Amino acid sequence: MAEVIIVRDAREAGEFVADAVIDLVRARPSAVLGLATGSSPLPVYDAIGRRAGEVDLSRVHGFALDEYVGLPEGHEQSYRATITREVVVPLGLTPANVHVPCGRVEGIRTAGEEYDTAIAAAGGIDLQLLGIGTDGHIGFNEPGSSFASPTRVKTLTRQTRRDNSRFFGHADEVPRRSITQGIGTILRARHLVLLAFGESKAQAVASAVEGPLTSSVPASAIQLHPRATVVIDEAASRLLANADYYRDAFADSSAWQTR
Ligand code: GLP
Repeated sequence: MAEVIIVRDAREAGEFVADAVIDLVRARPSAVLGLATGSSPLPVYDAIGRRAGEVDLSRVHGFALDEYVGLPEGHEQSYRATITREVVVPLGLTPANVHVPCGRVEGIRTAGEEYDTAIAAAGGIDLQLLGIGTDGHIGFNEPGSSFASPTRVKTLTRQTRRDNSRFFGHADEVPRRSITQGIGTILRARHLVLLAFGESKAQAVASAVEGPLTSSVPASAIQLHPRATVVIDEAASRLLANADYYRDAFADSSAWQTR
């Protein structure tokens, strides 16, 4: 099962996960991070940014989870631009070390395989940050995605396009397709850290952590991983049947242990 850590708020979650990232980079200066976009990982990037003087991040490698297909080069809502703005610049990562799946229509057929090859060539991902969609997606692996899927093109659900329309103005402007690390790709990372905050994520979190393993809830695949940590606030924990157990287990343990 996943280790579930219920924190007071997103800021506390950010500091908690930033500790883990900084420890990792101290132990392995060329660590490979899996970078997620969306609002959930922002507190982690903020916390690392505040402590950037404590550790040299210039040799860290990053692989983004996903990208929209077909946005014009440099579009401010492309995940390439988002990762540059929210992660590479504030954390002082070396731009050449940070990879985002290529969402250009030309070459899209081979882009997924090339991305998985690049991840493997970097030695695999040490710590993969994840958010979760309200429909239980991770990356852009929408419901029905194979747990063995490689990086590939996925059509977005109407729900996801509605959820993401806040960044585009209108749902019609949200691209219809994405290229995303597959669930198989994500499961190969050595540590998964899934973040979720707020009531709107409570159902997806409960299904992912306590529901049956099903491709209808792509995030339930984390139950297959030997080291998955779910860091959530009270509101996102509300529908968990075993919240008290997670609190007891966390109080009894040193964090980040394998379950
Ligand atoms: C998008 C991203 C996901 C992210 C999800 C939730 O769909 N592709 O990686 O987890 O949004 O975003 P947020 O954290 O803003 O709720």
